[in-house]
Parts: sequence; structure tokens; C-alpha cells
Amino acid sequence: MTVGSEASYDVVIVGSGAAGLTAALNLAERCRVLVLAKGGLSEGSTAWAQGGIAAVLEEGDSFADHVRDTMVAGAGLNDRDVVEFVVEGAPAAIERLAALGVPFNAGEAAERWHLTREGGHSHRRIVHVDDATGWAVQQALERAAALNPNITLRPHMVAVDLVTGRHAETPSADRRVRGVYAVNKETGRVELFTGRATILATGGAGRAYLYSTAPRGATGDGIGMAWRAGCRVSNMEFMQFHPTCLYNLETKNFLITEAVRGEGGHLRLPGDGHRFMPDFDPRAELAPRDVVARAIDHEIKRLGLDYVHLDISHLAPEFVEAHFPTIHAKLLGLGIDMRQEPIPVVPAQHYTCGGIVVDRNGRTDLPGLYAAGECTESGLHGANRLASNSLLECFVFGEAAAKHILAHADDLPPPPPIRPWDESRVTHSDEEVVVHHNWREIRRFMWDYVGIVRTTKRLERALRRVELLRAEVDEYYGHFRVTPDLIELRNLVEVAGLIVRSALARRESRGLHYTLDYPEMLPNAVDTVLTPPAHG
Ligand code: FAD
Ligand code: SIN
Repeated sequence: MTVGSEASYDVVIVGSGAAGLTAALNLAERCRVLVLAKGGLSEGSTAWAQGGIAAVLEEGDSFADHVRDTMVAGAGLNDRDVVEFVVEGAPAAIERLAALGVPFNAGEAAERWHLTREGGHSHRRIVHVDDATGWAVQQALERAAALNPNITLRPHMVAVDLVTGRHAETPSADRRVRGVYAVNKETGRVELFTGRATILATGGAGRAYLYSTAPRGATGDGIGMAWRAGCRVSNMEFMQFHPTCLYNLETKNFLITEAVRGEGGHLRLPGDGHRFMPDFDPRAELAPRDVVARAIDHEIKRLGLDYVHLDISHLAPEFVEAHFPTIHAKLLGLGIDMRQEPIPVVPAQHYTCGGIVVDRNGRTDLPGLYAAGECTESGLHGANRLASNSLLECFVFGEAAAKHILAHADDLPPPPPIRPWDESRVTHSDEEVVVHHNWREIRRFMWDYVGIVRTTKRLERALRRVELLRAEVDEYYGHFRVTPDLIELRNLVEVAGLIVRSALARRESRGLHYTLDYPEMLPNAVDTVLTPPAHG
């Protein structure tokens, strides 16, 4: 099904993380695939993942237990069929990664893998590569993709918008997606990439918040693009805050993996060393993340603290060093010896549970458009993601989308002639300060008004600011050449609006969405689904 010209591929994938590369490797058996990344190939969240990948591998564990734990964390909002589909796909996904050369830590004696434990899991279930699992996975996927002649990797290309019928040389109302326009960071020019199918695998939107464990590129670009093209977006109010991000004035977004608590680390108050989690939940430090993050937030606000302590110094120093070599080395460089002293930590935004609505095959609302990974809302996570279920979702849905495209390859029409990007009516910006100011402003008010504990009044304040910024950004976008920063800002405003509107629509507290105005959980679990106005 090859199309021909230089910029035409069978499938265009936006994103080179776990979801994008998994889809590419599966498609490349029969298709010519293009993978775009807006920075280096390893600059997404995948490479930063520490803890690992959840899979039922321990004796005595069962799919039913993993499904139950996922749904307990998700506060009843998960789609059970999807949860079963992903959980049951986990062991095979781990095998495929091992076959690609991911050096998962071995277990003792009869156990093939070492399994660590994380909050909300009733069993040891997390397969890992020390405390830097994501880096090992990313490198294995990249190696395999680079060796595959059917995969073209194009880093430093920033997708701007999806191409549909309105971009055709003979414009039409056809909503079928035909590829993307993307800015080449080296030349600054916008290039056109067409395909019979397009997959968004652009990761999350964590950088809408001032403090986030996510990399700088997590600006919700895929969610923004899909929404503008006419896709529904769901459950954006469920932003996950990781309880233990390092508190350090210079290093603002370094995660301390949940596995530190999983292996026995305790959360303590800095003054008297009181271990406070048992006061909040019988599961103590291993309660689901929303519970732990809220407890820390409560203690920080109650006592006027800057941080709390995460302490694993009561375990043998050799054990700590062997299990957490990356974190230990990083902290030592900052003057903290985790073998002997506690680590100062605060909650920070970590994961975007909501996103583009997809079905079990990764299909979105638009023909020809698929999505996988953190940019989606597949029904797996519900109101709160269970730790280490997200890499897993990338592998299962990356493969599912690829399989669906392969199965329907003959039905996917080639794109019609598409117009090149038109820059005739814009000029170079003379006011870059607007972009940088607005970036900072969004991230600040999202942190202050749309954080761990919310109120309707604060959300309304945030909405007023989003609307003001949106008008400014739209005006700016209409007049000036697109730049990577402007593209990200435009998407950040879009997703900030989606988060705030979803949060206002939910008149209860459930999972990650906690509001003082509606502290109770309603009897029925209902998704928040937003439909783009022009397509509603
Ligand atoms: P990403 O890996 O984020 O990749 C996104 C890709 O899209 C990148 O290549 C990026 O360049 C590209 N992209 C984005 N926008 C554009 C654009 N406009 N144009 C072109 N390309 C674009 N999950 C677990 O299951 N276990 C863990 O242990 C774990 N630890 C984590 C630790 C940290 C610090 C963080 C931040 C997350 C962690 N997570 C973990 C979550 C998990 O890493 C992510 O959910 C997952 O990696 C997302 O993969 P993805 O393929 O969807 O997106
Ligand atoms: C961690 O290692 O704590 C992160 C795990 C995850 O986000 O799933």
C-alpha cells in the first residue's frame, strides 16, 4: 500500500515513545512507517520511567487480582473489558520486550524476573531494570526501529496539526485524517507528511503544571491536535500527582520512584520524624497515589512545610544502593546520601489519565486516525492510574492499533493531493516574550487553582484566565510564523481549558479529582466526555 512521493508513507506516527515505537515495529512487517518526534527520539516520558511495568508473574497472583487492583485505584470509572484486555496482554508484552533485549532484573532461584512492589498492587508485580526501566525499554525499541528498513525515524519535527479534507487541494468536509503538518526544527519550515493512517502517540500534558515529573515536551500536543480536528476528549480532570518528587530548588522534576516505598521506605514529618501515612490509610505508604499525595499535601499545608521526608535509611545500605543505583547516584550528586538520611519530597504532576477517546483498537472518532499511550483515554485507568500500568497500556494499545491498521490496510484510501502549508499571510514574530510569559502564566495558575485539592471558585478563576490567554494565543497564532514554542503554547492553552472544564463538570470527588465543594463520591461512575463545538 505504498503511496509514492517522499513525504508519503503508509502510516504516519507522531511520537517515538513506548506507544509510537511499539506500533511502528508491529506495522513495519508490511508497511512503510514514518515516526516523528519533536525532540530527540528518547526525549519523551518513556525514557524517564523508573519503577517498571506491571504484569501478573508472581506465583499466587492472578489476572483477577490485577484487574481488581486497577479498578480499585480507578474508583470504578474503568472499563472492565479494557482492563482485562490490557492485564491479560501484559505477560506477552514483557516477553516481547525481553526478546528485544530489555535486560529485566532477574529474580532469585526459581523466579525468572525480580518483581518489585508499588502502591495499590496487592502482589509483587513490577518487572523492572533497576530503577531506570524506561531508559532500557526506550533504547531497545529504538535499536529495533533503527534496524528496520521499513521505519523512517525523523526526530526534531514538531507536528502542528492533523491534515483532513479541508487541507486538500480541492477542500472538502471529509474528516478522514491524511497525515500531519510538522515544523522542521532545523529549517524552521513546515513540511507535509501524508499517510493512509495516522497514529498519535504524543504522550501526556503534565507540563501544563508548574511542577511536574514529566519531560519538557509533555505539552498535550496530540490531545490538542485531535480536539481541533474533531475528536472527543475524556476525563481530563484526572491529573495524577506523584507523591514523591524530589524537593530541590535547582532540580525541580526528579522523581523518586514509588518502588522506594514498595521496598519499605517510610514517609515522615521533617520535625519529629513522625510516620504519618498510617494516620490516613491502613495501607500506609502503599495506598494508591491519590491518597498518598493528598495526605502529603494535607500535612504540608497544615504545618506550613516545604516538603516531607521519604526515608529508607533503616534498610541495609547495600540493599538501597543495589536497588536504586540511579536515584542514589543522582542524590549523592546533590549532597543527599539516601542510605543514611531521608530524602525531601513533594507531590508533583506526573500522569495524564484522560485524553483522546479511543476504542479497543486504538481508533479515535475520526476515520484514519488512531491514538495510543498517555495521550489517550482508553478506559484502562478510570479516575486514577494504578502504578506501572501506563507503559503496559502503551505496549498493548500500540500493538492493537497496528494490528487493526494491518487488518484493514486494503480499505484505507490513499490521500488526495494536499495543499502545502501556507505562510503567505504571516510574518516573523517580534514579540517572543508573549509566548514565554503565557507559558509561565498557565503553568502557575494551573498549579495554584487546578491542583490536588480543588474548589469551584478556583476552577472558575482558572477558566477565566484560560479564556483570556486563548484569545491572545489565537491572535498571535494567526499573525506569526509557527515556531515549536508557539505550537506547544497553543496546545497547552487547549489542554488547560479541557482540564478545567472537565473538572468543573464533575460535581463529586472521585479518584484524582478532589473538590471541597463536592467531597462525596456519587453512586454512579460516569466519564466526563467533551465534544468539540464545531462537531457536536
Ligand atoms: P512518551 O514516551 O511521552 O512519548 C511521546 C512522544 O511524542 C515523544 O517522542 C515526543 O517527542 C512526541 N511528540 C509529542 N508531541 C509531538 C509533536 N507535536 N510533534 C512530534 N512529536 C511529538 N509508567 C509506568 O508504567 N511505569 C513507570 O515506572 C513509570 N515511571 C515514570 C516516571 C516518570 C518520571 C514519568 C514522567 C512517567 C513515568 N511513567 C511510568 C509514565 C510513562 O512513562 C508514560 O505514561 C509513558 O512512557 C508514555 O509513553 P507514550 O509513548 O505515550 O509517550
Ligand atoms: C514510579 O516509579 O514511581 C513511577 C511508576 C509509574 O508512574 O507508574
